Amino acid sequence: MNKILLGALATLAFGATTGALVASAGLIDVGADTPHSQPVVAALGFVRERAIARRVADLAPPADLADPERVRRGAGNYDAMCVECHLAPGLPDSEIRRGLYPTPPNLALPGEGGAAGRNPARDFWIIKHGVKASGMPAWSKGGMEDEAIWDLAAFLQHMPTLSRTAYLDLVAASDGHSHGGMDTHAAPAEAAPPPAPAAPSGKAAAPARKAHSHDHAHDHTAHKH
Ligand code: HEC
Repeated sequence: MNKILLGALATLAFGATTGALVASAGLIDVGADTPHSQPVVAALGFVRERAIARRVADLAPPADLADPERVRRGAGNYDAMCVECHLAPGLPDSEIRRGLYPTPPNLALPGEGGAAGRNPARDFWIIKHGVKASGMPAWSKGGMEDEAIWDLAAFLQHMPTLSRTAYLDLVAASDGHSHGGMDTHAAPAEAAPPPAPAAPSGKAAAPARKAHSHDHAHDHTAHKH
């Protein structure tokens, strides 16, 4: 019995030492353009899902989650803050999404947890707290209030059912970027550009920006400014 225990401890110590040596020799590739091995992906996914499931177990969505007003308000905030990473109906991909690892799921597709599969409490938790070392921000840290986060969760339930036109109409009918957190779009008075016409369209609300141009064949369909 003691021998088995000693053997197990020796194996663990050997594994830990090897791991530490590999890491300190700089052999682990942290580049976002090289995926993790399958066992690492599985282990990280397991940890993430267990952690989130535990934290959302007692989280009940508000009774009026399906209220069209929530969906409408959520649409404007989604278009302002989430589209670059999570796309929208009719928006096939974006540069930032291609470069991020893990790849942010396309939340416009029913296949990626869409209308039938999305759990609004899980979405709320992830939007509020973010996911470490993934690129998914904790939006509460920027000042987004719980009610605005529920609006986004409500909108996510709805988005996979929308056509491109229906999406744009909903964004146009929303209050734009209005979640009550930090308003980073409010430029200092002396630098304020003239008020631009609201142009909701898959990350289109930045008409004052310079044209985006760099040297490679990129997908212009993803840049309908
Ligand atoms: C900078 C990129 C980025 C932005 C901006 C971003 N996210 Fe994410 N988001 C991610 C990444 C990456 C993941 C995947 C995290 C993981 O797999 O560990 C993610 C995951 C999620 C998930 C979980 C998806 C699932 O089914 O597992 C939801 C929901 C989500 N984000 C909602 C939002 C909302 C709403 C916004 C805007 C308020 C937003 N995100 C903005 C990168 C982003």
